[in-house]
Amino acid sequence: MQYQGGTAPSTATGQASLSLIDGRTGQSYSLSIQEGAIRAAELRNIKVSEDDFGLMSYDPAFANTAACRSAITYIDGDRSVLDYRGYPIEQIAEHATHLEVACLLLKGELPAAAQLQQFIAEVTAAGAPPDGVRKLFEAMNPLVHPMAMLMAGLAALGGEFPKSAQVENPEQRWSDILRLLAYTPILAGWAYRRRLGLPFVEPDPALSYAGNILRMLKGEAGKPYRPDPKLERALDVLLILHADHEQNCSTSTVRGVGSSRVDPYSAVAAGVAALYGPLHGGANQAVLEMLEEVGSVANVAAFVQSCKDGHRRLMGFGHRVYKSYDPRAAIITRLAEQVFEVTGQNPKIRIARELEKIALNDPYFIKRKLYPNVDFYSGCIYEAMGFDVKMFTVFFALGRMCGWLAHWDEMIRDPEQKIARPRQIYTGPARRDYVRLEQR
Ligand code: SDX
Repeated sequence: MQYQGGTAPSTATGQASLSLIDGRTGQSYSLSIQEGAIRAAELRNIKVSEDDFGLMSYDPAFANTAACRSAITYIDGDRSVLDYRGYPIEQIAEHATHLEVACLLLKGELPAAAQLQQFIAEVTAAGAPPDGVRKLFEAMNPLVHPMAMLMAGLAALGGEFPKSAQVENPEQRWSDILRLLAYTPILAGWAYRRRLGLPFVEPDPALSYAGNILRMLKGEAGKPYRPDPKLERALDVLLILHADHEQNCSTSTVRGVGSSRVDPYSAVAAGVAALYGPLHGGANQAVLEMLEEVGSVANVAAFVQSCKDGHRRLMGFGHRVYKSYDPRAAIITRLAEQVFEVTGQNPKIRIARELEKIALNDPYFIKRKLYPNVDFYSGCIYEAMGFDVKMFTVFFALGRMCGWLAHWDEMIRDPEQKIARPRQIYTGPARRDYVRLEQR
């Protein structure tokens, strides 16, 4: 689905190819074009002499580099398209549940009812993390950011299950995938309650995935908990919207770390680290802190000006791929209204809406194709549901866990993939001899 212009143009040979001439040698080359890309390795054939290393492509932050072939998620950033295994996010968010989406991303097809029940039963049967990890959370400083707690907990799980290092074994991979889907919400609950000094709450197998997350964060140990169905569904939709997003920073990190054949717990712990950053998943926390700082609708114009003057970024705006409205942000704004029917409107939403209105009509943002992304409104919902701002990125990680695992599994199974090891353009000093200390 790379080429949208009908039948791709082809040369006389019937093969699409790129012909180029090396101005240094006058030599001409033909690079084959497949699925909208050339193979970077073919550039190495372009040399000025036999012992020349050959050409590389230079692409800081991999802005225009396909590091893999993937069948999981498709994004068209110019047309606000986001499809999970071919299904439009709008339809998925309206009709599916998060574990159904996890099954779709992991297996490639929407599960039939019996398959979905089997999958849910397998996740539930994975149980709870080992006691050693629980004690780790009980011992952690309650002031530690819950993303740091989550990272530590996931890394520790890798050590608790040494067989998880057998990543080439599909049965082992599947058992670790189920554990991570089951354990991550429990770790999130432990982090949330450790920070509040509250006893941990065990999951209730009778509740849905989202219902259990609400129970383990907001419930009381040993007591029944019935989540508000509207809030339960809103959280489930938020988990779905965050489930996957092709080769974003954290997913690429999981793929890269996983390519060394380390266990999946360590690979997703690295993914949590990448997601934690304010330019990535940490933006949902940064948006709420920004709205807090703006303080009122009256201050919005001045704040937008400070962004245009380059003094700060409008957090929750802009995207490397979407140069149009993030389809997830559109769904979240509608979801916010449903949540506010239960919780009462979060006053910060008015500041957010005014920021969006001004920004979408300002040449600075229009010229740079900056639109609200998935993080712009999600925090207003989480805050209205009574969660502290530091938990927002943890919710992002809870949704994204199934996407990370689907990509990790796809990478392990891909015969073309090897350990990730990019090259560089060296800009340091030419080779030189060591100078003894007394001679410096
Ligand atoms: C997520 O990749 C994914 O798919 C991520 C994600 C997922 O689901 O995994 O969608 C989740 O991470 C969403 C993004 C959350 N981050 C934020 O909301 C932080 C604020 N946004 C920006 O920092 C920025 O837009 C990025 C990081 C999202 C994208 O940055 P790029 O593609 O590297 O763009 P850039 O930094 O090169 O900016 C291009 C121009 C610059 O201006 P000029 O130098 O051309 O004058 O746009 C400006 C930037 O200054 N710009 C902004 C801006 N974002 C970019 N100016 C003000 N406010 C912003 N938010």
